Amino acid sequence: MNIQSTVSGIAAILLLHLSCCSARLWDFEPMFVNTTSADESLVQIHAEIVRKGRETPSISGTLDCQYPLDETTLVEAVVYRSQTGSEDDYKLTPWGIPRKTFTEYMREYYNNMIYPNFEGCSNLAKPGTENAWSKVNYVFDECIPTGKGLPEIVPEGYYKIQFTATGRVEWGFVFVMRIVSKSNMMGY
Ligand SMILES: *[C@@H]1O[C@H](CO)[C@@H](O)[C@H](O)[C@H]1NC(C)=O
Repeated sequence: MNIQSTVSGIAAILLLHLSCCSARLWDFEPMFVNTTSADESLVQIHAEIVRKGRETPSISGTLDCQYPLDETTLVEAVVYRSQTGSEDDYKLTPWGIPRKTFTEYMREYYNNMIYPNFEGCSNLAKPGTENAWSKVNYVFDECIPTGKGLPEIVPEGYYKIQFTATGRVEWGFVFVMRIVSKSNMMGY
């Protein structure tokens, strides 16, 4: 199974953790995802964008780790933005997540962002339950993040999130999404 799809969803969420709370004024469309694992016997990650007719594309994926994700694993997210979507146009943004341990990362993001965005489409454990996030066998099934915990306003454009975990095994994913503000879609 893959952590990738999971991760990509998470990355999307992570990306925008600057503020919080009300109705988001933007929509997002997942465009691209790929995953890597330096050792598939220890980490299997897989993710894909699911397209069905005219519905908003969703994200499916799995992440299966055969080693404990704890203080010995460091994670990092780097976020690039492109106004046009063209490769040459991507520029580094300050919205990434600086390198930190997996434990710290989950402490900061699990309850308020990761879980609320994926609870309806994954097997993530409810916060407060024993070892809510120490389980390393996640399945994501056609997820469309709800936007909970994300800012109301996000600049339009294409965003590329590069999520990398290092430590015993290097693994990660690259996720590209497009953000469109709702007012624009309504033609204001
Ligand atoms: C994943 O996609 C990124 C961005 O297009 C690319 O730079 C990278 O080489 C890809 N990695 C794999 C394993 O395909």
